[in-house]
Amino acid sequence: MAALALQPHPRLSLLARLAVLLAVGLWGQTTAGAYDATVCGQMGYTIPFNNMTFNADAWNPDVKGFQCISVQDSPPAFAATWSWSSNPEMVHSYPHVKLTAPGLPTPLSNISALVLSAQWSMGPGSKPRPARVVDHDGLTNDGTSANVAFDMFADRDVAKALNEQTAETEIMIWVGKFGHAEPLGFDANMTKTCFTQTIGDAEFVLYQGHNERGTDVFTWVASANQTTFTAEISPLLQYLWRNGLVSAKSHLGLVSFGSEAYHSEGTVTFSASEFDMDLVAGAAPKLAVGHLCSLAASTNPPQWLFSSAIIMSATLLYLIS
Ligand SMILES: *[C@@H]1O[C@H](CO)[C@@H](O)[C@H](O)[C@H]1NC(C)=O
Ligand SMILES: *[C@@H]1O[C@H](CO)[C@@H](O)[C@H](O)[C@H]1NC(C)=O
Ligand SMILES: *[C@@H]1O[C@H](CO)[C@@H](O)[C@H](O)[C@H]1NC(C)=O
Ligand SMILES: *[C@@H]1O[C@H](CO)[C@@H](O)[C@H](O)[C@H]1NC(C)=O
Repeated sequence: MAALALQPHPRLSLLARLAVLLAVGLWGQTTAGAYDATVCGQMGYTIPFNNMTFNADAWNPDVKGFQCISVQDSPPAFAATWSWSSNPEMVHSYPHVKLTAPGLPTPLSNISALVLSAQWSMGPGSKPRPARVVDHDGLTNDGTSANVAFDMFADRDVAKALNEQTAETEIMIWVGKFGHAEPLGFDANMTKTCFTQTIGDAEFVLYQGHNERGTDVFTWVASANQTTFTAEISPLLQYLWRNGLVSAKSHLGLVSFGSEAYHSEGTVTFSASEFDMDLVAGAAPKLAVGHLCSLAASTNPPQWLFSSAIIMSATLLYLIS
């Protein structure tokens, strides 16, 4: 067993440290497995023999709270333990693994297939649940708000596509959603937009918004929690560029899998394993990407729909002709 590198965030309270120690199994019989490293705050860890990178990514921490991530090198897996009890509407951290593929970055129009997979579990406390187990009641009792998501970045400029801070477009795929976590552009008066795509047996609904940096964020939200996910998701990308919502010349640069942590009254542990990405580069097949819905189909269409409807219709006509 490899040595444990415990590097808590300097701002961690004693209680938080205790939770981390419990999470990594130094005390008691509470652990499900042995981890090779634990990092907290904004620290990352890279598996030495394959360069797979993990990050606790507490990019928006609150004084009251912490984020740690424990990583197992082989087979790769992680458990992310956190607590954020103030500012419930904000994302505080995104513990994640970076997924890599030889073909990246690649133009969106040069993605023949993109298979993403992962399995995960979530529940209150510091003890990771077995794969695919979600303690729904426990999370509800703690008022937990979080998602489980693949996060991708794209830009017309290849270099910018490789940097979360500079990429003009972010594309998320939410395969889990708890509490009050909602995608950017979500409107409580219109729980469902009329942009949907079905992948396998999951229906995804599209939302669009802007983050605080002005990045254009497109979020596909699964209509049910997918604790085991394996899907060829290129139709979700094609929907965006074939309909002119994202430039077809955009390059997909970064892909990660993790959980955005908003809020919980107690400690939460999200764990993940069997995450993978398989990219087949080459001209995108012309898929049936779904029609842009008519404005009338939506009771309260978001503003951006009006402004881009004409451009989109023109694009569709061009594609059809
Ligand atoms: C890991 O990254 C280092 C530094 O970039 C590189 O030298 C090494 O070949 C990489 N190893 C693997 C397995 O990719
Ligand atoms: C939702 O509807 C309510 C009542 O009609 C209205 O007051 C509120 O402003 C609406 N919210 C949004 C975001 O449109
Ligand atoms: C996932 O599970 C939570 C907790 O049971 C539930 O509130 C939520 O609606 C589910 N999410 C989706 C997208 O079905
Ligand atoms: C598209 O993919 C093919 C097949 O891998 C590759 O040969 C080509 O260089 C790619 N084109 C671009 C512009 O990346």
